[in-house]
Amino acid sequence: MKILGIESSCDETAAAVVVDGREVKSNIIASQIDIHTLYGGVVPEIASREHIKAVIPVVDEALKKANTTLSEIDAIGVTYGPGLVGALLVGVSAAKAIAFAANKPLIGVHHIEGHISANYIQAKELEPPFMCLVVSGGHTNLVIVRDYGEYEVLGTTRDDAAGEAFDKVARAIGLGYPGGPKIQKVSEMGNPAAIDFPRAKIADNPFDFSFSGLKSAVLNYLNSCEMKGEKINPADVAASFQASVVDVLVSHTIAGAKKLGFKKIAMAGGVASNAALRAGMRAACEREGYELYYPDPILCTDNAAMIGAAAYYDYKRGVRSGLDLNAVPNLKLGER
Ligand code: KG4
Ligand code: ZN
Repeated sequence: MKILGIESSCDETAAAVVVDGREVKSNIIASQIDIHTLYGGVVPEIASREHIKAVIPVVDEALKKANTTLSEIDAIGVTYGPGLVGALLVGVSAAKAIAFAANKPLIGVHHIEGHISANYIQAKELEPPFMCLVVSGGHTNLVIVRDYGEYEVLGTTRDDAAGEAFDKVARAIGLGYPGGPKIQKVSEMGNPAAIDFPRAKIADNPFDFSFSGLKSAVLNYLNSCEMKGEKINPADVAASFQASVVDVLVSHTIAGAKKLGFKKIAMAGGVASNAALRAGMRAACEREGYELYYPDPILCTDNAAMIGAAAYYDYKRGVRSGLDLNAVPNLKLGER
């Protein structure tokens, strides 16, 4: 079954053709990063306008690269939440128009379900149940994947998302946007034990996360160095910050898998491409005898192949959306 996936929830306009949820025939991504970099982060109004310009050319290219036509597509999957409302609306409107014009079934997909499903593309043998850590610029969730389309959120962030923390700390030490890859790069030259930044624990849910205290600790450290006239070492700050994030993400995920008795752990979202997180999680999984899965970096950050994969399993479960499908900026995982 051939699905055309469309994604426009944040600052990437993407379209992909995916067969049977696992085989990627094309994966086209038009990134707006260069434009938003000028402003130090994503500007929602600009994102919407850029999506409008890109969406049809990106769909055309995805079909062309897959050597197929709209008439050969079996269904259209599109992200309808969560995300920026104006950005989501562009993808949703395009998908509805295409579904109507070509008379194809339409499937609204949850963005996080898409991120999780990127693992099905990467690891053809992976089947639920497993524990999935979803870490991106907008989300930090520890998700119990009981079955295809059956999710339970075990833990979530109380404030900033992990990727957001990377972006804010990168800005504070002058690295620019997007911060994740830049922090990773400079951390290679730093000492992760140089500064003892906090590892937040949430009293009433040990699986929840909090990163705003860590961000403040980094800012306080930078301010106090400045007041004392001490020179800061950006590589040490970046490496120590990254170590704190990785510690918390790994320990929560392993504790979650232990609680549920799962032996399979997956990671998803932009931050899942972080080399230190991958190494830390790999070491912990080896220690526990767990299997670890994560997608290639291009399938970790926003893309439409993951939406095509998720739409396939939704379709198989009988999920169909009407032409009244709307963007839902705060859509909860598992809700329709
Ligand atoms: O999944 P994604 O493309 O978009 C959202 O759904 O949010 O994730 C983008 C986030 C950004 O915050 C970016 O800084 C972070 O993922 N990121 C990374 C790395 N690559 C991207 N964070 C840490 N290390 C990386 N290598
Ligand atoms: Zn995302």
